[in-house]
Amino acid sequence: MAKPLQKPICTRAELDKVSFLIRPILLKNKPTSALIFAFEGEVYAYVNHCMHMHRPLNCEEDAVFDETGKYLRCSMHGFIFAPKTGECQSPVCFGQRLQALRIESNDGLLYFAEKHLSLPAD
Ligand code: FES
Repeated sequence: MAKPLQKPICTRAELDKVSFLIRPILLKNKPTSALIFAFEGEVYAYVNHCMHMHRPLNCEEDAVFDETGKYLRCSMHGFIFAPKTGECQSPVCFGQRLQALRIESNDGLLYFAEKHLSLPAD
């Protein structure tokens, strides 16, 4: 595997200590943010953008999981999403998916592995 050129997001161990991370990203040079979390032992990342009314999932609360911890939940209107697929489970947007982002792990560090994703300058 070629070594990623980007800065790491965090270590895998760090991700297990938090509910989720939000990172600013440029996707096709457009500023947005990414949502990264570990769920049932696997790492997942999505563009942090709810398709309902185009808000970040954590726009109203510093949380992205519902009270059960089994579903992602947009804090704006409460739509829920399957963590493993990003698929919306709420009627209005049922079946639509959050945009998944590929992550690579290298020596315990996590990196974005999307061709059109870059990180903003510090
Ligand atoms: S904007 Fe996410 S549920 Fe409405």
